[in-house]
Amino acid sequence: MRHWIWGLFLICLIPGSPKASENLIINIDGRQTTSLNGAWQIIIDPYENGYFNYRWEPDPNGYFKNEKPKDKTDRVEYDFDASETLLVPGDWNTQKEKLFLYEGTIWYKKSFDFKLKPNRRVFVWFGAANYHAIAYLNGQKLGEHLGGFTPFNFEITRLLKEKDNFLVVKVDNKRQRDGVPTLNTDWFNYGGLTRQVYLAEAPQTFIRDYFIQLKPGSEQEIAGWVQLDGAKPSQPVKIEIPEAGINISVQTGEQGFASFNRKASLQLWSPDNPKLYQVVLQTESDRVTDAIGFRSIATRGHDILLNGKPLFLRGISIHEEAPVRGGRAFSREDARILLGWAKELGCNFVRLAHYPHNENMIRMADEMGMLVWSEIPVYWTILWENEQTYANAARQLTENITRDKNRASIILWSVANETPPGEPRLKFLKGLAKTAKAMDPTRLTTAAMERHSPDATTQMIDDPLGEFLDVLGCNEYIGWYDGLPAKADTMTWKMKYAKPLIISEFGGDARYGLHGDELTRWSEEYQADLYEHTLRMLDKIPFLRGVTPWILMDFRSPRRPLPGIQDFWNRKGLISNRGEKKKAFQVLKKYYEGKQRNPRF
Ligand code: GCU
Repeated sequence: MRHWIWGLFLICLIPGSPKASENLIINIDGRQTTSLNGAWQIIIDPYENGYFNYRWEPDPNGYFKNEKPKDKTDRVEYDFDASETLLVPGDWNTQKEKLFLYEGTIWYKKSFDFKLKPNRRVFVWFGAANYHAIAYLNGQKLGEHLGGFTPFNFEITRLLKEKDNFLVVKVDNKRQRDGVPTLNTDWFNYGGLTRQVYLAEAPQTFIRDYFIQLKPGSEQEIAGWVQLDGAKPSQPVKIEIPEAGINISVQTGEQGFASFNRKASLQLWSPDNPKLYQVVLQTESDRVTDAIGFRSIATRGHDILLNGKPLFLRGISIHEEAPVRGGRAFSREDARILLGWAKELGCNFVRLAHYPHNENMIRMADEMGMLVWSEIPVYWTILWENEQTYANAARQLTENITRDKNRASIILWSVANETPPGEPRLKFLKGLAKTAKAMDPTRLTTAAMERHSPDATTQMIDDPLGEFLDVLGCNEYIGWYDGLPAKADTMTWKMKYAKPLIISEFGGDARYGLHGDELTRWSEEYQADLYEHTLRMLDKIPFLRGVTPWILMDFRSPRRPLPGIQDFWNRKGLISNRGEKKKAFQVLKKYYEGKQRNPRF
């Protein structure tokens, strides 16, 4: 692997971003951690009173100071310890009725004692916080993070006390016009510390990051790199895969970086054989283990090749909506249920829309043998010409790839969904696609685009962005937003590019338990009929290599108010939010059974 590629990875971290996670620690479950999950005291702060004074200037004595009255004359107008609590991880919207539609700031406070051992470093690590987080320890600002779906961490070694540390986090989920995503999304803006929070301990110099995968174009050679962090960057590092008899020794340079490659005879990971190897990385003072699968993914003309063989991606789209309980999903159990339903459908592939899902979902996909389309929330009408918006999108992409680049299940990095063609948008997305490729030459790039109809019976895919992607995704809603389901019967599809196509969305709403004939909108029969017509149409597309119908399970959205039918839920799920399977579930399951027997492409 050429050093310049890995070097690109190091330099493509975005300069000038809010002090965030340039030094993201990966594989947090492989570290020595102390959980801060559980009840945190909170202060709901719609007027930012804990951050600004009455002249709207930053207040040096904001809520992050966690002040207490010094005597009976003292005036302190807040008290975390007497305040109500929220559970972390978890969105706030589904924990308290009064917070269901709340969009603004909530301050979280967690107190803890910590016995710091000599020659150890300590970090506070957040799985995610939606949308803008500012973290403080013992009254000192640690840094901030923008973006609701990627991890970040801050070193706290020098600020820690043995007793009564207080970690305060300001989380603001207000939607922002220059944000990523922007103001308008068809999903619920669940706010808060929506994923796990840990204290992570490490030696003075530790293994912060690494990338170990098959060398692109080879199935018998692994390639990768390791990045140390600390005062002694130049050290010997051992990388072992005991079961495969691999034992690599490298010496990191002054930047703490070393790359390597090695011939290897490995069982290749696939949906049929999700083989994971224990990988051990070791230095004189640190040791990290990970479970990594090795597989190749490539394209050849219209084909997608997994381990050199063409395959058809029998997929389904999934939002990060917790099965049955609703709200942001975050646990292994949530992941097991959602991916278990996908397996029941006969899927070998899931599109995790429209943002990076929690790491439990990706690791469960590795374990269960489910291929993954991973996506950042560059959704609809982003501010394409705003530099900070681009830096935000690029940073979320960088964090997404940094966290998940060793996960065999992920085969596609998607840079956008349904964005309107135009020069500024093309420049913005080309930049993201190049960043993804430079960081990770082992995977494919894609985006969910739209088609247009040059005449009544033709669908044309010729988005200029397609030239800069490896695989094209295209959303279509014939039968729901575009005519009735039978319209699909006379449709012919054309595409400008000799590349693979995935129909990344199609579908229609059905209220579980609502029945009628095939033309009764919102009935299970209408939805099932739409699937029948659409799947017959898709089978006629010679360059189609995958489908991720919209969507596995109903999900909350403020854009879906229809009383008695939607009630703030998008009902395109094949399964209701209570876990009830609709008729269309069986239609897709039968189709995939046929596809598995005879992929016919
Ligand atoms: C769009 C969009 C989805 C949305 C879906 C719908 O294609 O990508 O986020 O939920 O259509 O309208 O249900």
